[in-house]
Amino acid sequence: MKRCAVLISGGGSNMLTLVRDMTGDHPARPVLVLSNNPDAGGLEKAASLGVPTAVVDHRPFGKDREAFENKLNEVLEATKPDIICLAGFMRVLTPVFVNRWSGRILNIHPSLLPKYPGLATHKRAIEAGDTEAGCTVHEVTDVLDGGPVIGQAKVPVLSDDTPESLAARVLTQEHRLYPMVLRRFAAGERAPVVLSMDAESPIN
Ligand code: GRF
Repeated sequence: MKRCAVLISGGGSNMLTLVRDMTGDHPARPVLVLSNNPDAGGLEKAASLGVPTAVVDHRPFGKDREAFENKLNEVLEATKPDIICLAGFMRVLTPVFVNRWSGRILNIHPSLLPKYPGLATHKRAIEAGDTEAGCTVHEVTDVLDGGPVIGQAKVPVLSDDTPESLAARVLTQEHRLYPMVLRRFAAGERAPVVLSMDAESPIN
């Protein structure tokens, strides 16, 4: 059984879908939900599902990313994760951290990578006049939002979309994609998953 730690910074909606899916014949179980933000709403939700939580507040470390990550590693190593899922985790991790966990760390990003690494992905897709957008699960390497893609879900961009309406459509697909990819990754499968909006889901 693989031990999975999930890192969050906010509401943790992706974390919740991962935790809720890790039951029964799923090859992984959640062993820790860790946030850099002591006020992250996801911490309480994780605790209510019986998952141990921890906080490593990045703010006292200021610009000393290495010191922050040393503390992060201390907490992570105590729980011995086989897999680390970044889920709405908003801190850039240094190559030192990434190499320490390389091959065992996943992230979900709200664009069809390699398009739109970084922030404000939905606004950029709309301004570029894209007719398609989506989300990507990738292995985390020392290239920000640049690791091997192991899952993508595509959604249409509608002419009257705002960044908010597109983000909501993409988030619904994130909640389908990430659990599906984690199940396969934990089982040792690496062939990428590509989803388009399921036929019955209304284009909301
Ligand atoms: C999501 O858009 C996800 O793609 C990005 O962070 C946002 C919030 O995620 N990584 P969550 O609701 O905190 O899981």
